[in-house]
Amino acid sequence: MDNLPRYAVFGNPVAHSKSPQIHRQFALQENVAIQYDRILAEPDTFAQVIRRFFDDGGQGANITVPFKTEAYQWVDELSPRAEVAGAVNTVIPLGNGRFRGDNTDGVGLVNDIVQACGVAVRNRRILILGAGGAVRGVVPELLAQHPAGITIANRTEAKALDLAVRFGIQALPLNQLPEDYFDIIINGTSGSLNGALPDVSAKVFGKCLLAYDMVYGAAAAGFLSFARESGAQQTADGLGMLVAQAACSYQLWRGFKPDIVPVIRYMKEAEVL
Ligand code: ATR
Repeated sequence: MDNLPRYAVFGNPVAHSKSPQIHRQFALQENVAIQYDRILAEPDTFAQVIRRFFDDGGQGANITVPFKTEAYQWVDELSPRAEVAGAVNTVIPLGNGRFRGDNTDGVGLVNDIVQACGVAVRNRRILILGAGGAVRGVVPELLAQHPAGITIANRTEAKALDLAVRFGIQALPLNQLPEDYFDIIINGTSGSLNGALPDVSAKVFGKCLLAYDMVYGAAAAGFLSFARESGAQQTADGLGMLVAQAACSYQLWRGFKPDIVPVIRYMKEAEVL
């Protein structure tokens, strides 16, 4: 077992992470054996712990909350999308003790929406709720799909305006969103984690093809049932995004592109069990 290629996810907490299960499915698709661990770090030991992992032969790392900014600072070079996001969720060793940081969250979201949910982003009117780090990381990938437009709305309006200026998109106050207008509505607030719904009128969902919550499982349920009751035709939680961002990381490390659709299905079934 000692010679298997080793990967890991670093976070705090990390015990709940589904990444080992997901990457095991990718390895089965590639028909190889890998080791993928969860590694708990503390804010003052993150740099030390990740360095030791790579010194011991680690071949790639995922970074989750709360270390994405630390990882951004720790790596030696950044992909353009990690640079824009200001956050790193994937570390790739370059040899000679140097490391590249990438961010696959945005492309994960887009791949889930397009490939797994079957909803095109091109020419769609998109509303994003929230203006934190998670949203900043996904806007560039959504823009790259040429939507008709992206509107961003946030409890703290100044933060939505900042992102709007940064990316050349529109910001509106939550209570001034047009009704029966948006095709895709994405909840990128962390409010769901505390059971809080963004303060949006039900009529905003009147023409909604897809309502999407970037968190998964029980935390997404409140927003997604509100969206369905308000008229959203289809809803999805962030489990597919989690699988899709992992697939991009796997491809960056190993050059093998996993098929996300069967793995999302597998993870959904595993969640129910
Ligand atoms: P993340 O990295 O997960 O995006 P973040 O940068 O702290 O975390 O951003 C959290 C986002 O969720 C913000 O847009 C925040 O709104 P504010 O900018 O007004 O703080 C939003 N959020 C968190 N709790 C919320 C709640 N109860 N209702 C509405 N929005 C909430």
